Amino acid sequence: MNASVPPSPATPDRPAKPHLPDAQTVTQVTHWTDRLFSFRVSRPASLRFRSGEFVMIGLMGDNGKPLLRAYSIASPAWDEELEFYSIKVPEGPLTSKLQHIKVGDEIIMRPKPVGTLVHDALLPGKRIWFLATGTGLAPFASLMREPETYEKYEQVIMMHTCRTVDELEYGRQLVESLKDDPLIGELVGDKLLYYPTCTREEFHHMGRVTDNLTSGKVFEDLGLPKMNPEEDRAMVCGSLAFNVDVKAILEGFGLEEGANSDPKQFVVEKAFVGEGI
Ligand SMILES: Cc1cc2nc3c(=O)[nH]c(=O)nc-3n(C[C@H](O)[C@H](O)[C@H](O)COP(=O)(O)OP(=O)(O)OC[C@H]3O[C@@H](n4cnc5c(N)ncnc54)[C@H](O)[C@@H]3O)c2cc1C
Ligand SMILES: NC(=O)c1ccc[n+]([C@@H]2O[C@H](COP(=O)([O-])OP(=O)(O)OC[C@H]3O[C@@H](n4cnc5c(N)ncnc54)[C@H](OP(=O)(O)O)[C@@H]3O)[C@@H](O)[C@H]2O)c1
Repeated sequence: MNASVPPSPATPDRPAKPHLPDAQTVTQVTHWTDRLFSFRVSRPASLRFRSGEFVMIGLMGDNGKPLLRAYSIASPAWDEELEFYSIKVPEGPLTSKLQHIKVGDEIIMRPKPVGTLVHDALLPGKRIWFLATGTGLAPFASLMREPETYEKYEQVIMMHTCRTVDELEYGRQLVESLKDDPLIGELVGDKLLYYPTCTREEFHHMGRVTDNLTSGKVFEDLGLPKMNPEEDRAMVCGSLAFNVDVKAILEGFGLEEGANSDPKQFVVEKAFVGEGI
């Protein structure tokens, strides 16, 4: 139990709320579309994590047992609170309920961060590519706000693809806010190249990440050389199909997959398990 959250006192019309284990208090909720929302919660003083890692979060299930799911921490390691970016699955055991959380509510967060989308899992390079679809943006929302990202790389390229323009909005506003961020705005400077695309709605940049890499369009548009194992590093987060396809393309460019214990040129993590809602 988080010592900083006092138990809700009982009143005549409101019985005392039972306390959740590893409880954190919701401080902000933003609904982006009918299937996407983000929220912030208090951070346990003892929690240490590396930007890009994920934790298990959830709510108490109807059976009285915690109902937990993996979630990338979308905020950077230095932030005083924790941010998450979430799907709303209509029949999803967790998100059908989680989507209704309000400021002041409690969620469960197991304080054991893990994951492969961390700087330690990559060899030094000149450029880093963040490749994501949908909520796969979440670990990069953390890494784009992490000073180490800009200290380690000359250029940081964020490719994010969604079906529709409204699904890009969380990422767009986050990137926009970095310019004026008092903590890392100066470090980011013009190092961050943002390349959002849509596949099913008219937008200034169209097409799948995979197609824009194989056709060379993204290199042309951004004035960058074709990806190569000497200079380029990549982190990938999307559906299983996306991850498999991107991995094959990166290997075609000569990059090798690494891990925490064996740093190489790219790393991959699933944004969710299954075929998608
Ligand atoms: C390492 C890891 C990190 C994750 N990080 C996040 C995150 O930051 N944000 C987030 O929203 N989810 C994330 N997920 C997915 C998350 O764990 C849950 O699956 C999700 O919250 C839905 O939970 P649920 O109980 O409502 O439905 P579930 O029973 O878990 O899923 C129901 C269906 O919805 C699909 N689905 C689940 N999550 C998504 C998604 N994000 N996008 C599209 N379809 C999905 C599944 O394929 C499944 O078919 C992550 C999963 C993994 C493995
Ligand atoms: N997004 C919505 O508006 C919406 C609404 C209701 C239900 N759903 C359902 O929710 C599920 C998940 O939808 P989602 O939009 O979050 O995820 P998604 O289907 O994985 O698509 C997200 C983005 O990734 C692209 N993509 C998918 N597979 C790829 C691959 N192998 N390689 C490269 N790019 C790939 C998609 O392009 P393409 O468009 O070319 O596939 C899309 O731009 C789907 O089953 C869908 O039926 C989605």
